Amino acid sequence: MTITLRPATAADAKKIKDLIHEVRINPMNLDWERFIVAEDDGEFVGCAQVKPHTDGVRELASLAVSPSWQGQGIGSMLVKALLEREKGELYLMCRAKTAPYYRRFGFVEVVGKNIPRSFRLHARAGRLIAMFAGEGIAFMKRKAE
Ligand SMILES: CC(C)(COP(=O)(O)OP(=O)(O)OC[C@H]1O[C@@H](n2cnc3c(N)ncnc32)[C@H](O)[C@@H]1OP(=O)(O)O)[C@@H](O)C(=O)NCCC(=O)NCCS
Repeated sequence: MTITLRPATAADAKKIKDLIHEVRINPMNLDWERFIVAEDDGEFVGCAQVKPHTDGVRELASLAVSPSWQGQGIGSMLVKALLEREKGELYLMCRAKTAPYYRRFGFVEVVGKNIPRSFRLHARAGRLIAMFAGEGIAFMKRKAE
C-alpha cells in the first residue's frame, strides 16, 4: 500500500460522490474543487474537504475512506493534511460515535450557543435524525493555533 494525497480534479467528482453515498454521510455541497483525495497506487480510496460558510465558519467535512481501506491510517492522513493548512478555528459535525476519532486530532465538543450559527439548521435536522435513527450528532471545534 502506497498512499498519496493530492488536490482533487474534476475527474474525481463522481468518485467523491459515490464514496460519500456509500459511507452514508452528508451528500450536500460536494464541489470537488475543495477536496483532497487519497490514492493507493493511483486508485481512489478516500477524500475530505473544508467547506467555508457564509458566516466565516470553516468546516472539516466529507471525510471518507473506502470500506476496504479503513483502519489503515488513511483517514488520519487526510485530517492531518487539512489541519496543516488550516491554521484558524475549524469546526465539524459528525455522528456522536465518531467524536472520539476527532478528539485524537485536538477537536473538542461544543454545545448550545457555541455551535456556529451556520450549523444550527443542521443541529435541528440532526436532532430529528437522532430521534428517528437513534443516532446522535456531535459538533466539534479545533482552536486556532
Ligand atoms: C471515520 C473514517 C474516515 C476513519 O478513517 P480510517 O482511515 O478508517 O481511520 P484511521 O485508519 O485513520 O484511524 C483508525 C483508528 O481510528 C479508530 N476509529 C475509526 N473510526 C472510529 C470512530 N468512529 N470512533 C472512534 N475511533 C474510530 C479506529 O479504531 C482506529 O484506531 P487505532 O488507531 O487505535 O487502531 C472512516 O472509518 C470512514 O470513512 N467512515 C465512514 C464515514 C464517516 O463516518 N466519516 C466521518 C464523517 S463525520
